Amino acid sequence: MDREDGPVKVTGAATYAADHHPDGLAYGYLLTSTVARGTILAMDTAQAEKAPGVIAIYTPFHPLELRPYAKEENGELTPPIQNTDVRYYGQAIGLVVAETFEQARDAAALVSTRCDAERPRASFTDGLPSAVGTSVVDVLADGVSSIDEALDAGDVTVTATYTTPAETHVAMEPHATVAFWTGDQVTVHTATQGVRLVVDRLSETLAMDPARFRVINPYVGGGFGNKWDMWPHTPLTVAAARALGRPVKTVLTREQVFTVVGHRPLTAQTVSLSAARDGTLVAVKNDGVSSKSASNGFHEQPANLSLALYGSANLHVSRKAVTLDVPATTIMRAPGESNGSFALESALDELAGELGMDPVDLRRKNDTPVHPATGLPWSSKHLAECYTVGAERFGWSRRSPRPGTVTDGDWLVGLGMATATYGAGRGQASINVRLRDDGRAVVSGTAADLGTGQSTVFAVLAADRLGIPVGRVVPELGDSATPPAANAGGSGSTSTNGPAVQLAADAAKEALVKLATEHEKSPFHGQEVTFSAGEVRSGGDGMPFGELLTSLGVAAVEATATSPRNPVRDHAFRSFGAHFCEVRVNRWTGEPRVTRWSCVVDAGTIVNATTARSQIVGGVVMGIGQALLEDLRIEPETGRFGNATMADYLVPINADIPPIDVEFLNYPDTLLSDLGARGIGELGNVGAAAAVANAVHNATGKRIRDLPITLDKLL
Ligand code: MOS
Repeated sequence: MDREDGPVKVTGAATYAADHHPDGLAYGYLLTSTVARGTILAMDTAQAEKAPGVIAIYTPFHPLELRPYAKEENGELTPPIQNTDVRYYGQAIGLVVAETFEQARDAAALVSTRCDAERPRASFTDGLPSAVGTSVVDVLADGVSSIDEALDAGDVTVTATYTTPAETHVAMEPHATVAFWTGDQVTVHTATQGVRLVVDRLSETLAMDPARFRVINPYVGGGFGNKWDMWPHTPLTVAAARALGRPVKTVLTREQVFTVVGHRPLTAQTVSLSAARDGTLVAVKNDGVSSKSASNGFHEQPANLSLALYGSANLHVSRKAVTLDVPATTIMRAPGESNGSFALESALDELAGELGMDPVDLRRKNDTPVHPATGLPWSSKHLAECYTVGAERFGWSRRSPRPGTVTDGDWLVGLGMATATYGAGRGQASINVRLRDDGRAVVSGTAADLGTGQSTVFAVLAADRLGIPVGRVVPELGDSATPPAANAGGSGSTSTNGPAVQLAADAAKEALVKLATEHEKSPFHGQEVTFSAGEVRSGGDGMPFGELLTSLGVAAVEATATSPRNPVRDHAFRSFGAHFCEVRVNRWTGEPRVTRWSCVVDAGTIVNATTARSQIVGGVVMGIGQALLEDLRIEPETGRFGNATMADYLVPINADIPPIDVEFLNYPDTLLSDLGARGIGELGNVGAAAAVANAVHNATGKRIRDLPITLDKLL
């Protein structure tokens, strides 16, 4: 079905965080640093305080008190403006509150700040030799003493280094927080992937009981990982509203979204693959390095994917990080695996070339029924079928094995492919289903819909279980006052929340049947009854639940059910897929264009094909952006992001994207849950950039190992 929330979104009726205007609202505007590293010596706010409409200015010299965070959730290590340290360019160093947004912004421009600035660490490349934090995993065959010995034993070996730039999420909806206090209770509207996480984080830093917070956020305009943790504007806004005794709203400007919240780190991976003549991998080695911000601890572990995809008797990965004085590094769609797949899937393509093998055949040869590092069998894996179906749909047999040999006028034409994969799991979730006397069923839990289709999944699953039309299900997401369901992340929403929706619908049916048989005025009193197709039935007689409740004068019956964490420990869980694409490179200008795409997906049960397809398409679009456009540039002298505007940070537009063909295999993963759904939010992104790079090589003979593949690298 189409999105259940589509009509309210396209008509503007959906209220996002920044759309709330409580009475007496004041506006916050963040002050941000203009040096990347150093100490703030003084901030002169005298002029700003006299500016029209200004209510308060908070700085490290006049702070709002915030307690240290207990832990880091891929966000900042410390709350804002509690000291004078500057750790990156664009850091929140103050909050101006005024009667209007414009007054707050104007006053912010009147604050002058004096810093003792130091030269920032801003070059990832310069930092590579001193990368630290070595953690190594070696899985070696009996009698093999090192991965290098194993590499030497193969007939053909390839070794290369692959690099990816910093990227940023640029969700359409900027981060925003609106907070208002009623006595000692606070209501917070904030753009987030998890209202529960915000309650936890706020209760830590404001040192208050979680029960005093209500965080509400039913609609989210994109997250991609950047609305996972709470960012500095949120506690500042909540604390300012408390201090001032009136509601405060802070919306980040588009430029602030580039620095006040996190970005995807840079990575470098040196990959060696060694294979026997027939293509059997004998050793896989990946030494991965990620950038990391001085302001937090998150860094990518791109090499990890090399432990989990292809069978090999010998595996080695290592993970290191380079600390830079840049904004927070954080999770972004398919963290680790997105970058990891660019290196691994490019290397596979290079190995296929060296072996003179078709890239699909090489992958098929090394497909494995067990997790390569742990030896646990996969719960459900149909990757081989993804290759077969994808090759057929796409017309892979038309690929020339010799790069640079297919042309169409001024265009060099190439075909490329890559494997997609992403980890799968099922956590614990609770959901409430309320059957109302108006014949509607309300399904509620703290889940988030970032544009993913999660609320539509709730409607589909509840309608199916209750036997009523989907239009009579009312999903209620993003309210911390409802039962604790999964935050949106790690491709785990449907796999975790879906089974809970089913259990809660069953529990609500039971509660209704109990009422029907036990209520003295019920026409079914004392009878044997069943519930089907939205009706209570006894013998041949049925009554819709809404009618029954109305006749009894009962407004609703409800039940909450909890679906536990996946208990299965003797299997490994992953989603799989295969990307196939065609790229055309202009022989005179080097301009690359992606012109065709097929993706075949093995992600268990597909609950709703329309929204699932959008998820895969979104992942591919992001992959095309990574492959050809996205590159958040750090100025080496200043540590400033040099292209932190939507005019300069390039993302794909419609004209960059070809029709994308998506096919789902739809094999239920019954070891994960009865529902059998794994995850799809991140899967489509994994391997997508490598498929483009591999097609570029097939078109031109040029192997680009440094993203993005811009035309200067192809000339
Ligand atoms: Mo996603 S990067 O797990 O929010």
